[in-house]
Amino acid sequence: MFEEFIENTRRVISLQTIMDSWRHELGGARELFQAQSHLYKHVFDYISSMSLKCAVELGIPDIVDNHGQPITLPQLVSALQIQPARASSIYRLMRLLVHSGFFSMTKVFHDDQEEEEAYGLTSSSRLLLKDKFNNCLSPFVLAMLDPALLTPWNSLAGWFRGPDALISTPFESAHGLNFWNYGEQNPEFNTLFSQAMASDSQMANLVVKECKPIFEGLNSLVDVGGSTGSFSTIISEELPNMKCTVFDLPHVVANLPDTEHLKFVGGDMFQHIPPADAFLFKLVFHAYGDEDCVKILKKCREAISSKGEGGKVIIIDIVINEKKDEHELTEAKLFFDMLMMVVVTGRERNEKEWERIFLEAGFSHYKITPLFGLRSLIEVFP
Ligand SMILES: C[S@@+](CC[C@H](N)C(=O)[O-])C[C@H]1O[C@@H](n2cnc3c(N)ncnc32)[C@H](O)[C@@H]1O
Repeated sequence: MFEEFIENTRRVISLQTIMDSWRHELGGARELFQAQSHLYKHVFDYISSMSLKCAVELGIPDIVDNHGQPITLPQLVSALQIQPARASSIYRLMRLLVHSGFFSMTKVFHDDQEEEEAYGLTSSSRLLLKDKFNNCLSPFVLAMLDPALLTPWNSLAGWFRGPDALISTPFESAHGLNFWNYGEQNPEFNTLFSQAMASDSQMANLVVKECKPIFEGLNSLVDVGGSTGSFSTIISEELPNMKCTVFDLPHVVANLPDTEHLKFVGGDMFQHIPPADAFLFKLVFHAYGDEDCVKILKKCREAISSKGEGGKVIIIDIVINEKKDEHELTEAKLFFDMLMMVVVTGRERNEKEWERIFLEAGFSHYKITPLFGLRSLIEVFP
């Protein structure tokens, strides 16, 4: 009787051990498969970007908008004027873009009460509408996903390992030219990039009104690296009494006509910056390393001090704040940081890193005002 009890207990214990080990293995396997999904998601993240680019190239956001109501797949295929045989592929493209939040999916009912799925816009795809709003970001999508900017990523590991420290970026490894010289020698890419920057700046009209006090009291402003002047145009319309100069590389501002309130000057900011009460740098410093930023800031400080009180440098750029920002916002800022490393010699900075370059250039204090989205506005005072 006692032996039977011992034997049964032993069986229960060994069964328990086997089940524990299965449970352990199952748990381990689940974790492994989760890790695999995580890995594959990131391996294929480029499919999300390239599908979005395809939608922009095909003009899908405008087609959906022009339809005036949710558009069904056959209506979309017909408006795209593509082979009906491609319909199922368009369905698959749209299914992904609905999943990633670029389009919505609703049900529409026909007269015979048959229901069909139809696509609508979301706030993200509304940003891609041409001519509709001033803030169309389609050129930004097309420029940032242009082969000229994608190819250098294949040179990244080689660039890290490469013996030639003079090759400053993977972009230069891939193209044999730095980014700015490449733009000069490839007018088509230069135009595409300028359009992308202009489209990014157009959205700034949403914040300029809020930031108006920052520009008030200034008689003159130089928008250094101001590209084709989209941002300065918005500022000069809001503050018509301020003398505004857009200063950029000669090939960027060549043939751009001056207006009553806006003047275009070509030059190299490392050589000379036209004097003014204040200097604006929107998305310029993030394209340069600390040493270069200090050089440019020192030039500005000299020019400001000759103008007396009230002068300042105004910077619109990213400030990394991993503790405060949401995960997705930090991820976008870190993507920009990698882009600055691969394409130009720049970096995104946290507040401490910004402060270091301001103090090194001889400025005494600064004030950071977070704007909507990715950027902050930083005022730097002599
Ligand atoms: C990232 S873009 C920013 C453009 C514009 N501020 C905006 O946000 O739309 C940087 C600008 O700096 C200009 N740039 C680069 N190096 C320069 C230099 N050495 N002197 C003057 N401008 C320069 C580029 O041509 C480009 O227009």
